[in-house]
Amino acid sequence: MGVKVEKLKVNFKTLEEFKKFKEYGIQELSMLEDLEANMVDNDSESPFYGVYFGDKLVARMSLYQIDAKFDRYFYPPQNYLELWKLEVLPDYQGKGYGKVLVEFAKNFGLPIKTNPRVKSSGFWEKMEFANVDYEMERDRGENPFVWYPEGVKPQQH
Ligand code: COA
Repeated sequence: MGVKVEKLKVNFKTLEEFKKFKEYGIQELSMLEDLEANMVDNDSESPFYGVYFGDKLVARMSLYQIDAKFDRYFYPPQNYLELWKLEVLPDYQGKGYGKVLVEFAKNFGLPIKTNPRVKSSGFWEKMEFANVDYEMERDRGENPFVWYPEGVKPQQH
């Protein structure tokens, strides 16, 4: 499809684009504050990746690597990626952007965990993620989906 995934830099343009996403929250506000207060440099690294249509940001996700010592999901325990804030702007949904971002994340070759919004579970199943229904997760109000690369298995609980 020729869609390019870009690592997003922290700058005023990106933070302005973030305001169009529903999951705009504390993380984005503190990035903006840090930038305004010169606590971080313009164009510094962010955990976000995105897809542009022209010069408009239409889809994004955040990826964060979690250290093996905190791994409760995979066997053998290992570093994995936490994927969150995957979101495609309404006019651009259903055109493959969500899939392009998820496949980009899979290409790191690490297991992936995400805690999606309720209504998108059909999408995650399509992306070959499995729902892990551990009691401790439910107790925290989470409903995680995970992806196992070849050779990686679920951790037993
Ligand atoms: N349930 C089941 N399958 C879904 C789905 C859903 N909610 N959303 C997408 N799919 C399927 C598509 O049909 C497509 O299948 P195909 O490969 O056979 O054509 C595949 O998943 C990839 O879809 P894609 O076009 O990449 O999805 P997207 O770009 O719209 O991204 C979301 C998916 C959920 C990330 C995006 O729609 C979004 O941000 N939505 C916000 C609101 C929300 O969560 N909506 C969920 C539905 S109410």
